[in-house]
Amino acid sequence: MDLDAFRWLLTDDGQQLLARAAEATDDELRAQDRLRREAPGSTEERASRVAVALAQVTLRRKAVPKLGDDAARMYFTPDGLEQATRSTVAAHRAARLSAASAGSVIDLGCGIGGDLVAFARAGITTAGIDLDPVRVEVARANLAALGLPGAVSVADATTVDVTPFDAAFVDPARRTGGGRTFSVDDWTPPWTLVEELLGRDTCVKAAPGIPHARIPEDVEAEWVSDAGEVKEAALWSGRLATTRRRATVIGHGGLATITDEDDPGAGDRDVGDFLYEPDGAVIRAGLVTAVAAGVNGGLVDEHLAYVTSDEAFRTPFARGFRVVETLPYREKALRAALRERNIGSLTIKKRGVDVVPDELRKRLSLSGDVTGTIVLTRARGHGITLLVEPF
Ligand SMILES: C[S@@+](CC[C@H](N)C(=O)[O-])C[C@H]1O[C@@H](n2cnc3c(N)ncnc32)[C@H](O)[C@@H]1O
Repeated sequence: MDLDAFRWLLTDDGQQLLARAAEATDDELRAQDRLRREAPGSTEERASRVAVALAQVTLRRKAVPKLGDDAARMYFTPDGLEQATRSTVAAHRAARLSAASAGSVIDLGCGIGGDLVAFARAGITTAGIDLDPVRVEVARANLAALGLPGAVSVADATTVDVTPFDAAFVDPARRTGGGRTFSVDDWTPPWTLVEELLGRDTCVKAAPGIPHARIPEDVEAEWVSDAGEVKEAALWSGRLATTRRRATVIGHGGLATITDEDDPGAGDRDVGDFLYEPDGAVIRAGLVTAVAAGVNGGLVDEHLAYVTSDEAFRTPFARGFRVVETLPYREKALRAALRERNIGSLTIKKRGVDVVPDELRKRLSLSGDVTGTIVLTRARGHGITLLVEPF
């Protein structure tokens, strides 16, 4: 994005152009021509100003699922939006920092300010830095657009003195020139800085797939899911760490959290009347047995993340199913059993077995008018098929 054009967009004239771009109902090319004629500046300036305004309109629309109502007032770059933390998760992080009495936070690599905005909104004195001058300008504009205080500047995280702040936050970019990277050694700011920061009061946003072995002793790892999707592993160090492993589940009903201290452990047992499919955050945090204990149950198989119990519980940490019956595991007999029950539309869940649901569904070629859900898995090492109903 052209930095000068973006700065201009923040002026009164720029805001007028942005408003007209947002109201445009003609197709993009026509809108572009029309707005270019209306915009002030030289031919070249008008072209880049209109391009920036139209890009913001598109990005604001795209940002709604992630950032809700704020999206309409914020500014973005395409990558900055993609990397930004969703508002629900950022608000939870900010609330934790606030609850830990972190009165000031430095965000080392703040991007367009997804987390920065949440810190400031939680009443935390907030400073952000980023290597990228465009993102710095955008993050600053976002705080201003939302009426929030905070300082943002261009700096290299590896050279910043974080000691004046109660806590540091870092959300390293997980990309290289070749695309998304899964190795912590490719992160920027680098893992060496992360390790150093974890020696004091810090929160690090890491990819959910971070290997447990990479998490230093005395650091809490919190896997966070939102609407059933695991979004991140947040590492908390120093006095911000309150346990070793935590799963936090954000859903329509609010937020629920479970830790290794809630986990008395659980063994495997026979499949009971109910089956529970733990949330991904619970699985990543290694807390499936805590869920099993919470529903007075056990594991279907000690190596797999299905829980079973004779009792029906509503829990934010797992989806519950009533086990209707056990069906044959072999395909031919399964097809006959499903046809007998007039099942045509079939949801196939599987864990620990080598089945491709779409291919199996095709091979079963069902045509009945009843909807059904089956779970293909292993129970104490043996393949089983369960006909289940969500409850
Ligand atoms: C994943 S993004 C942060 C997103 C942010 N948490 C949000 O919610 O919008 C990582 C940011 O770190 C910045 N960055 C990478 N290396 C850096 C360094 N050494 N110093 C400062 N910023 C850096 C990148 O420019 C990028 O904007």
